[in-house]
Amino acid sequence: RRRIGVLTSGGDAPGMNGAVRAVVRMTIHCDCEAYAIFEGYEGLVNGGNMIRQVHWEDVRGWLSRGGTLIGSARSMAFRERAGRMRAAKNMVLRGIDALVVCGGDGSLTGADVFREEWPSLLADLVGAGELTQEQIDPYKVLNIVGLVGSIDNDMSGTDATIGCYSSLTRICDAVDDVFDTAFSHQRGFVIEVMGRHCGWLALMSAISTGADWLFIPEIPPRDDWEDDMCSIITKNRKERGKRRTIVIVAEGAQDRQLNKISSATVKDILTQRLGLDTRVTVLGHTQRGGAACAYDRWLSTLQGVEAVRAVLEMSPESPSPVITIRENKIMRTPLMEAVQATKNVTAKIHAKDFAAAMTLRDPEFKE
Ligand code: F6P
Repeated sequence: RRRIGVLTSGGDAPGMNGAVRAVVRMTIHCDCEAYAIFEGYEGLVNGGNMIRQVHWEDVRGWLSRGGTLIGSARSMAFRERAGRMRAAKNMVLRGIDALVVCGGDGSLTGADVFREEWPSLLADLVGAGELTQEQIDPYKVLNIVGLVGSIDNDMSGTDATIGCYSSLTRICDAVDDVFDTAFSHQRGFVIEVMGRHCGWLALMSAISTGADWLFIPEIPPRDDWEDDMCSIITKNRKERGKRRTIVIVAEGAQDRQLNKISSATVKDILTQRLGLDTRVTVLGHTQRGGAACAYDRWLSTLQGVEAVRAVLEMSPESPSPVITIRENKIMRTPLMEAVQATKNVTAKIHAKDFAAAMTLRDPEFKE
C-alpha cells in the first residue's frame, strides 16, 4: 500500500485542518495509508513520533477548527541540504514516497526543491552508509503536491488561498465593531491589518466596510497623499456629515519612495492636521486564528481530495502541481509556475478595484 504524508507549513490559516482531514480521508478511500507529519518540515527532519499514521477517526471534527492541529514551524534545518537528507531518510524508512504540503509560496518552493534533489539525496544516503541500495530502490521518485494555505491570498494562479475568506470575515467583523465607537464619539480609527507583501486583505476589507481611506503595499499613494487624505476626510466629515472615519493600513504599506506608512504615522497626521480624535487598532493575529468560514471549509475539502488524486495520477516527468481554484473550478497548475508568477506580478490586486474602492469614498478621487 502506498503511503502519503501530509504536512502544514508556514503561517497557520483557517482551513488547514479541513485540508489535512480531506487528504487523510481521501488517501484512505484510495486504499493507501495516510501519515501526518507534525510541526511542518521540522517533523520531517526529526522523524520519530513526529511522523505518525493517521486513521479516519483521527481527523473527526477538524473541519471547522482554526490553526493547524498538526502544527507548523519555520524550519531552519530543512533549508539546509543536511536537513533535507535527514528528511529523505525518515521518509524512506517509513515507506512514504509522496507528500501533500499545505502552506505559502515559500513552503511550497521548499517542497519542490526537495523533489528535485530527491534522487541525489538518496544516492548520498547510500554513499554515507545510512541506507542501502535495496532500501532506496522502491522509492526512486518523490511526488509532491501543494495546497495554498495563507490568509494573505498572495498566490498567483488561484482565485483564493485557503484561509483568506475566514480572515477577511474576521477583519470585517472587527471593523464593524469599531464603527460603533467611532460613530458614538465621532472619532477616527486607523485599523492595521495583516499583509506584509500583499494588500488583498486590506483592499477587500476596505471595500467590504466602506472605509474612508486605504494603504496597501502594491499601490503606493501619490506623493501628496497626506493633503489628499486630509481633504477627503474633512469633506466627508464636514460637508457629507460623516460621524466616523476609518482608515485601513496594510502592515506592509509604503509610499512611492518605499518608506513604510505605519498606522501610527497616519494617526498622527489625522490628529495633528485635522484635530480628529483618532485611535489605532492593530488587529494582529486575531485575523489568523478562529474557526474556518464556510468557504474555507469546502475549499480545503475539495482541494484536499484533488491533491490526493494528483499524487496518484502524477508521472515522474510531470512538474509538481499546486491545487488551485479558478472560476469556481478546482484545478491543478504547475507549482513553480504559480510561484514564479507570484514573484513577477502583484498577485491579486487590480488597480481598478483599488480605484473603485477609493472612488466610492470620494467622487473626485484621482488615481
Ligand atoms: O500568514 C501571513 C502573515 O499573516 C503576514 O501577513 C504577516 O506579516 C505574517 O503572517 C505574520 O507572521 P508571524 O506570525 O510569523 O509574525
